[in-house]
Amino acid sequence: MTKKYITTAIPYVNGNPHVGHTMDYLLSDAYYRYLKLSGEEARFQSGTDEHGNKIFHKALDSKKDINEYIDENSQKFRDFIQKLDVYPTDFIRTSDKDHERRCKEIWKKLEPHIYSAEYEGWYCEGCERFVTEKEVEENNGICPDHQKSYEKLSEKNYYLRISDFKEKIRKAIETGEMKILPDFREKEMLKLLDESPDVSVSRPKKNLSWGITVPNDDSQVMYVWIDALSNYITVLGYPDNDISDFWPATVQFVGKDILRFHAIIWPAMLLGLGLPLPKLLHSHGFINVNGQKMSKSIGNVVDPIDVLERHGVNALRYFFLRHVDNFVDSDFTWEKFDSAYNNELANDLGNLVQRLATLCSKNNLSYKTKETKFSPVYVEAMNNFKFNEAFEHAWTHVQNLNKKIDEEKPWELAKNGETEKLEKALSELVDGILHANFELSPFLPDATEKIKDIFLGEKILPPKTPLFPKER
Ligand code: MSP
Repeated sequence: MTKKYITTAIPYVNGNPHVGHTMDYLLSDAYYRYLKLSGEEARFQSGTDEHGNKIFHKALDSKKDINEYIDENSQKFRDFIQKLDVYPTDFIRTSDKDHERRCKEIWKKLEPHIYSAEYEGWYCEGCERFVTEKEVEENNGICPDHQKSYEKLSEKNYYLRISDFKEKIRKAIETGEMKILPDFREKEMLKLLDESPDVSVSRPKKNLSWGITVPNDDSQVMYVWIDALSNYITVLGYPDNDISDFWPATVQFVGKDILRFHAIIWPAMLLGLGLPLPKLLHSHGFINVNGQKMSKSIGNVVDPIDVLERHGVNALRYFFLRHVDNFVDSDFTWEKFDSAYNNELANDLGNLVQRLATLCSKNNLSYKTKETKFSPVYVEAMNNFKFNEAFEHAWTHVQNLNKKIDEEKPWELAKNGETEKLEKALSELVDGILHANFELSPFLPDATEKIKDIFLGEKILPPKTPLFPKER
């Protein structure tokens, strides 16, 4: 069996985690857990992106030493992902010495495809990329994503000759060697690839000091994206180690705004290194709030810690994995979030557990563990990254079990002394809940672990406090 490798985008450490960051983590974690439960051997990378002017300026603004600043903020992301019940096998910081050394090796290997030239153009520090005249015109000189004016830069840069790889990348996308999901994004990327000029891969140190120095040219620092993209392989030990057990990646999860870097620059780098391309780039949409883009100036940024504190981690994971479509933009509102918690998690799953465990406990059911595995419909959905559908499938099962209890009325069987029928009915219901629970476990690891303990303990006992108390 081939080994699997799942990656997440590594966030910039120029602030606290926000609710948008949860998407990469939750999708990759659910998929990783699904693979592990299917018996696969897998690695799961995450980390933090710590170079570039944006971060350096933020550290200056907060009057902190840059190292102290990145240490503090990287730790915030580490703590945050644990709170989400996300446990990557590998966590990389781009300021790690090994990463820096390996990046320099990567640069040297890419040198046949790198040349130096003078450049004059518009740059957005927020996006950390050069933009075209057309984009500047269309946006009236202000980046719509960062509400910052584009800067005119004129400098010597090194360039990566994207033209050396365009045809190979196109072919890889078209033949499905490197698939991009969703399909409409794949089309966008093919168009962008056609238009893509060579990419500037360095900045003069006088303009960007916080980064990895270019080998054999002390006056230049690597462009943050070269450094950042390399993380996916430096974390596996490239080029010191043979990474062929885990590379090419099975799936790389990224947001729609950064797909272009992953669909063009990253494959060009990999081809330049003679490495295979990732099998799949999964691009997710953005989380908006009350129908609006989240932004500090609008003041509608949702702090994921507030979301966690409202009803706990299961509610957060439930909402983002069941009600957020992983391919397009979605909306977060507190009303929708509360309603999903109260009407679905608490009413459907919480009630089912409480009712069934109470019935089993009253009737002293002794349950014998049976093997359970993912059903074909669920597997099909997960393998096609239709997380909502897989979730829906398991949830319908939960709802059907609630109906089954109402129909079979085990309490009447008990009253009438129909012991055999009662045991059979309860056993089947426990089988059912454990099966649904297993299918829910990649999404809700905490709740499903508790449910497993309730039904697979020595004696089935209802939880002393409800799994999902109704607080609001
Ligand atoms: N540092 C780069 C990624 C380098 S990967 C080699 C970066 N960082 S980021 O902090 O700006 O974004 C991290 C991830 O969060 C990206 O996948 C991005 O798309 C995602 N999101 C940022 N805001 C988001 C929303 N509002 N909604 C969903 N995802 C969002 O880009």
